Amino acid sequence: MTRTALPRVVLRKNLGRAIRRGHPWIYRDAVTAPDGLADGALVFVVDADRKAIARGFWDARSPIAVRVVATADEAEEVGADVDAAVDARLGAALARRLAFIDRAQTDTFRWVHGEADRLPGIHVDLYGPAAVVRADGAGARAFYRDLPARLAAAARARGVALTAVVERGQRDDQRDEGGAGASWGVLPAGELDVRENGVRFGVDLAHGQKGGLFLDQRDNRALVRQLASGRRVLNLFGYTGGFSIYAALGGAVETTTVDVAAPAIEAARRNFTRNGLDGAGAAPARLVAEDAFAFLERAAAQGTRWDLVISDPPSFAPNERALPAALRAYTRLHRLCAAVTEPGGLFCAASCSSHVRPDAFLETVAAGARAAGRTFTLVELRGAAACHPSLPAFPEGEYLKFAQGHIS
Ligand SMILES: C[S@@+](CC[C@H](N)C(=O)[O-])C[C@H]1O[C@@H](n2cnc3c(N)ncnc32)[C@H](O)[C@@H]1O
Repeated sequence: MTRTALPRVVLRKNLGRAIRRGHPWIYRDAVTAPDGLADGALVFVVDADRKAIARGFWDARSPIAVRVVATADEAEEVGADVDAAVDARLGAALARRLAFIDRAQTDTFRWVHGEADRLPGIHVDLYGPAAVVRADGAGARAFYRDLPARLAAAARARGVALTAVVERGQRDDQRDEGGAGASWGVLPAGELDVRENGVRFGVDLAHGQKGGLFLDQRDNRALVRQLASGRRVLNLFGYTGGFSIYAALGGAVETTTVDVAAPAIEAARRNFTRNGLDGAGAAPARLVAEDAFAFLERAAAQGTRWDLVISDPPSFAPNERALPAALRAYTRLHRLCAAVTEPGGLFCAASCSSHVRPDAFLETVAAGARAAGRTFTLVELRGAAACHPSLPAFPEGEYLKFAQGHIS
């Protein structure tokens, strides 16, 4: 497709500089477009003076009308064959991960992290021989046509054999939590066994609401393994036991995992067994299917305390409007967490909401601790694992915060 053949979308706002610097989203109120543009159509973005700014694909309904595929300076890369450029980027994204991930230890990781991999609007997670794809809207689904077969080809070219691709629904933020349905190949029946840093997990990609793992926390789980020795560990919003299992493998004297979803707690039980953490001599592992706030209120009232507390809730702020309520909810959560952390103990607080910026999040940790009569001292503010990179010009893509520190 040549440049002149593309439909033209004209910027109504002065966004040329931000786009050239690498911001990949153009909102609907910022453009004038021809009527009837189809989802996924490649468009040519020009400024009010008709100067070339970028190429991107159109979404007829999303608030993000255009996702930028190439700036004007990079137009040659996309050139005449857009599909070939996408295939090259799929392959390059996998090669970048394989350069630092040892697949003998870790065969589950994020292969494509959307905008940061220059593949805007899609995320692809690898679980052993299966890939899970999430497209953000109808525009992305149409633009990346035949994606399962193209993923399989890109994987094969880099020595990874894909046997199934599952497509999932859209979700806020960058985490895969949608419903399932195998769209290509064959998934094995039951849970698929995967490895992360040598730790074994079962994932059920075909059934259930949340069959996979939260792969963005891989490096933070590894940190918890280092911190856990000799400690009593409380893992709130624990899902299928990730942080708890790493803590037990790191020498925690006991773990308590709390999640409101009973199926996740049952999966956590199976994951403890998978890692040989259920026999005689294993550290006690308490698994609790309950609302984390109710659990914490009761534990605080009873004066129960832990040496290491981890909190990794779902996003409290799905949009900017929800931000004030979300900050109040984080502060309340962090007050309760600080109240049940032994003075001298450790607290790891996470937030996966991109609308909550790092300094505002840290203030909820500090304010929560103060409200509990404690002090939180930050040791390190971490983010997502390296297979979830980000663009400096695109802060919206940097969503995960993981604050690790002391409670005194
Ligand atoms: C971001 S995930 C946690 C991922 C986990 N830390 C891991 O490493 O695998 C959030 C979890 O919170 C759970 N959840 C949501 N609301 C909850 C609540 N009110 N109380 C307890 N768990 C809740 C969900 O079921 C989900 O498993």
